[in-house]
Amino acid sequence: MDTWTLIEQPCRFNRRRGTDALFTLGNGYLGCRGFFEEEQEDVEALGGIYVAGVFGRGALKAWKGMHRELVNTPNFFWVSLRVNGEALLCRPKRMAGYRRVLDMRRGVLDRRFTWTGSDGARVRVRFERFLSVDDLHLAGQRIEIEALDRDVEIELLVGIDARVTQLNRVTTSPRPIQPGRRHLRTLRAGPDEIETVVDTLPKGVRLAEAQRAVLETPAGPLRGADAATTDLAARRFCFRLAAAKTARLTRLAAFYTSRDGADPMARARRTLRRAGDYEGLRAAHERRWAETWRACDIELEGPDDDQRALRFNLFQLLQACPEHDSRVSLGARGLSGEMHEGSVFWDNEIFKLPFFTFTRPAATASMLRFRHRTLPEARRHARDLWFDGAMYAWKSGDDGVEETEMGVGAYYAIHIVADIAYALRQYWEATADDEFLFRYGVEILIETARFWKSRSHYDPLRRTWNILAVRGPNEYDVIVNNNLFTNMMAGENLRYAEEAVALMRRRSPAAWKRLAARLGFRETEPAAWRALAEGLVLCYDRGRDLFVEDDMYLHRVPFDMKRGKPDARRVIDGTLPYEAMALYQITKQSDVVTLMNLLPWKFTPRQMRRAYAFYEPRTAHDSSLSYSPHAVMAARLGMRAEAYRYFRDCAYLDLADIQLNTISGLHFANLGGAWQAAVMGFAGLWQGDGRLHLGPHLPAAWKAMRFRLCYRGGTLRVELRGGKTRVLLESPGPAPLRLCVAGRDVRLSKAGQEVTTPA
Ligand code: BGC
Repeated sequence: MDTWTLIEQPCRFNRRRGTDALFTLGNGYLGCRGFFEEEQEDVEALGGIYVAGVFGRGALKAWKGMHRELVNTPNFFWVSLRVNGEALLCRPKRMAGYRRVLDMRRGVLDRRFTWTGSDGARVRVRFERFLSVDDLHLAGQRIEIEALDRDVEIELLVGIDARVTQLNRVTTSPRPIQPGRRHLRTLRAGPDEIETVVDTLPKGVRLAEAQRAVLETPAGPLRGADAATTDLAARRFCFRLAAAKTARLTRLAAFYTSRDGADPMARARRTLRRAGDYEGLRAAHERRWAETWRACDIELEGPDDDQRALRFNLFQLLQACPEHDSRVSLGARGLSGEMHEGSVFWDNEIFKLPFFTFTRPAATASMLRFRHRTLPEARRHARDLWFDGAMYAWKSGDDGVEETEMGVGAYYAIHIVADIAYALRQYWEATADDEFLFRYGVEILIETARFWKSRSHYDPLRRTWNILAVRGPNEYDVIVNNNLFTNMMAGENLRYAEEAVALMRRRSPAAWKRLAARLGFRETEPAAWRALAEGLVLCYDRGRDLFVEDDMYLHRVPFDMKRGKPDARRVIDGTLPYEAMALYQITKQSDVVTLMNLLPWKFTPRQMRRAYAFYEPRTAHDSSLSYSPHAVMAARLGMRAEAYRYFRDCAYLDLADIQLNTISGLHFANLGGAWQAAVMGFAGLWQGDGRLHLGPHLPAAWKAMRFRLCYRGGTLRVELRGGKTRVLLESPGPAPLRLCVAGRDVRLSKAGQEVTTPA
């Protein structure tokens, strides 16, 4: 059980809100930070509940959009508790036996402590809550209060609090949590219902919340009295609790928005009316989690801490995934905090989607549909900037509009375009889902290929094609020409487009005809894409057999990493300004190394080894997107100790607050990176040549690792133990599966068939 729980004990009073993000619960529709339920006098900004797709207008000036930000929505877990007239406040001398426990197996948060009032009366309090993954519109909460040694008078207010503000964006600094903007206007509040509107964007979203709260006391159940105020729906329960007796409050809350359809309040009421009791609801929720874990867990025979950390990363990824709604995707901090405003970046496709592609392909399909939905905006963006096809926003709001702040260089960060194409291709290879490819994918591939065609320029001196003025994953390069990552990924994008067109023409000719007519497809396009893909400059130093980040990298000044990064702070937060970075050979975050992980068939082992040796000491890891690619590459190269060290940096990044800003939300790309480090690194998974590759690279600390993969309609169970890899076909797909296990070609077609290498 222990490796399924995250435990905070004792209370870290001076870092009270600092660990809230770790204790986030979610169901893809809602995300709820692990804040304390009971009102506190010293905590200024309250709550932390976010709804996928509910945005308000932010404070900064975005390049194109309105600078949308995720809205902190009314807190339906709010309570206020008084014992003998005194507010129950979290203070060091008053609390004992504090424990906050996130049960990741069941998706339940539990917190308990014993509190002593100034008159010496003691009560034991326990809070439990969950956001149902069975019915996304329901949440449950239970509060137990036990009088320990004498009778006490209790006043308990149970409400939905719309006084909440944004948590921390008064300044752009992530700390401390302070009250920020308020996006909500209350339309009406009663004892059990509240309706608010987010009216800081022109088309405001309405939020409707309802609660059903019942208090069981030793003397019988209480319904409570109306205690609503302007921005608070609430019921008040006043009662006397005899010594050694327990009172128990149970609340169900229902939540809808106008995004879910007309009259969200009627929906909330109906859901609440039909909801069963707390136990039944929680049991259904737990059953869902059990199914999810069966498909997605990674089991280790190794240190318990690693097992727990790995589960933590997967748990948070799973519960933020908006699989139910392709109008939204997964933001850089999921629904666990406000940093990056809930926007979607390249790290969605490159760091998070691989996990979903191989464990919950429907989730990847939904997030790729989000990119299809936002294609019209990407087209507009390209046209406005004098390009063809579709230029996806670097930082995308739910409407696909470029939300990057003015003047921050989103114009250059165009590898996002090819990253989306790559994720699409990976999804198709892993699922063989032609229908999806033809319905949504081919259109994206054609429009992105067209973008690259217009964004590349022929260089008559070198007789090559250049992609000028870009910013690769290494954002410290500021603006470069021919970033290797961008050019190679663009080349792949062009190839995928050509192949997808040929495939659709063959397999679905009627649909292809319609699509070609709609897109004004010209028969000359595929050949032009191929010529461009073959002609793009790839920076490479032949003498050293070294692939080079861009065409100036080797000419820049060596960077003194010890001086520039003496502590955990980013270089640009500690020693030098952002502008200085262009002078130096410094890589903010893994760039060439990430590329080589994505396209391993394009490089020899020697080239990978050289690139790793060259870039690793030049990499500042000033982004959370840096550790996992290093873990993957080091594992694949057989540098197991180094791979393990990077795995731990990645898996514990939020748990140990390595980047010093977990307070502002969990790092979702890195959560996906933890899966990549384990499965793509230690288990060597990759695809790209029609086979699924696996190979054992376990670190010395791990005896064995087991996990499941969805592959082409089948399910594989993989076990690595020492130098052996065992793959079992649990359920077959429609066609035999082609694998390459530790260098050996294998075909699996019947359920129960398995292979172990070396035998
Ligand atoms: C990283 C980007 C990333 C963004 C959002 C930045 O710090 O450098 O690569 O997309 O955060 O996660």
